[in-house]
Amino acid sequence: MKIIPKNRQAGSAGAPMAAKLVKSAGELKKVPVRLKLRFEDAAEYVPENLMDKFVIRGGNPLLGNIRVSGAKNAALPAMAAAILTEEPLILENIPDVRDIQTERNLLVSMGAEVELGYGRAHHRTTISCRDLANPEAAYELVKTMRASTLVLGPLVARMGRARVSLPGGCAIGARPIDLHIKGLEQLGATIRQEHGYIEASAERLRGGHIVFDKITVTGTEDLMMAAALADGETVMENCAREPEVVDLAVLLNKMGAKIEGAGTSTIRIKGVSRLGGARHRIIPDRIEAGTFVIAAALTGGDLSINNCEPRHLSALLEKLQECGVTVTTTRDSVRVKNGHRLKAADLSTEEYPGFPTDMQAQYMALATQAEGTSIITENIFENRFMHAQELLRMGANIKVEGSRAIVRGHTPLSGAAVQCSDLRASASLVIAALVAEGETILDRVYHIDRGYERIEEKLRGANGQIRRIGEILPRRAAQVPVGVA
Ligand code: UD1
Repeated sequence: MKIIPKNRQAGSAGAPMAAKLVKSAGELKKVPVRLKLRFEDAAEYVPENLMDKFVIRGGNPLLGNIRVSGAKNAALPAMAAAILTEEPLILENIPDVRDIQTERNLLVSMGAEVELGYGRAHHRTTISCRDLANPEAAYELVKTMRASTLVLGPLVARMGRARVSLPGGCAIGARPIDLHIKGLEQLGATIRQEHGYIEASAERLRGGHIVFDKITVTGTEDLMMAAALADGETVMENCAREPEVVDLAVLLNKMGAKIEGAGTSTIRIKGVSRLGGARHRIIPDRIEAGTFVIAAALTGGDLSINNCEPRHLSALLEKLQECGVTVTTTRDSVRVKNGHRLKAADLSTEEYPGFPTDMQAQYMALATQAEGTSIITENIFENRFMHAQELLRMGANIKVEGSRAIVRGHTPLSGAAVQCSDLRASASLVIAALVAEGETILDRVYHIDRGYERIEEKLRGANGQIRRIGEILPRRAAQVPVGVA
């Protein structure tokens, strides 16, 4: 069985459909099937949304309800954790986005068996890494996704060796992986770099003391997975405290690991000799939720963002209250109501629990419509203001000075042809387009498909005017038939 996503549903990010056509009593019927991805499927997987665009007409407030998907950034390390055990891992609430498909293909290319749920269970993925014949993450599969580095630690821990291409990913400045490498060396791995690949080996990792020079989210996750199967105890200091790190620790502990302190800056891991299978539900995506929160505030809507974890959104919600937005929360939802002008407020991105860098671009769209001047400082990544150029084209007043952007509001935005440059920049342009006068055509939406599950369908369900279109044919002169005046 080959899974090539020819039958992509409109608006999907290219997911293989979990259904097949069968002939029964002379009629073609669609029936659900269990899909198992295989090695050759991974090699043949071709993204089909390269030419997709969004057409967005601004002016509608977002109203009603929107449901948040599982967190891509928690799902990616959880899937990599499957490498640590011979037993199956059953993961629920996996979002249907391009990065997850890339990771599935990556695991399959190594020899993993990946089974996709269908029907109501289509957000379930079962991964079995019983035989991993090929502990390699090839460039072709990982060039679009930096998070592929997450397989490095688990591969060395379980297989004793790994060959992983240096990552690509979002075009948001230099994104080294030196801290992953340094940490693995601390655990006794030998590392070589050749032909754009990292080669790591260790007969058996041993516990060690790792102090991160800089806080790194995937670095913390990668080494936590490696240390879970090392001999002896590992202490990691200056760790990332993001909810996704905690979610991974919860999963690893269900698998039999002995991890304490996840969510604080010191994590202690007592290595065990083997890990087993587990079932785990991925936490809701706080960045997707936050994107809808900002969109609702900006469009002057009244929107309930459901199935989310408001605790994980504290920094954003506090900032929005400073901007004059009314926000109420329940255990698993946020309601945003905004009928009046927004006030400007300065912002600095920080590691969790600070304001997330992954929400900075969306906040900038909001700041263009706030009364006064907002100074936005990006502290995590260099070169993460590419959305500013496109927002300028829509009528915003933004001046970028190094790691600071000075946004003067409130200037009217008008629809224009704009381009996505990275995942979160794309989200900021969608949000801006929802309040711009007229129509915006957003190109290269494959960036947004990396991390947002059918964003256009969700927004349309909440009164947004947004549509996905495929390749637009070039305009041609009309052929007038001979004899027709
Ligand atoms: C993760 C998130 C990403 C988010 C980022 C920061 C995933 C899959 N991705 O990315 O969405 O924007 O956290 O919250 O979870 N650094 C080094 N050396 C390293 C590793 C990182 O210098 O070895 C630097 C980076 O260049 C960056 C900073 O540390 O300046 C933070 O990066 P990091 O937390 O590692 O980001 P990711 O884990 O890649």
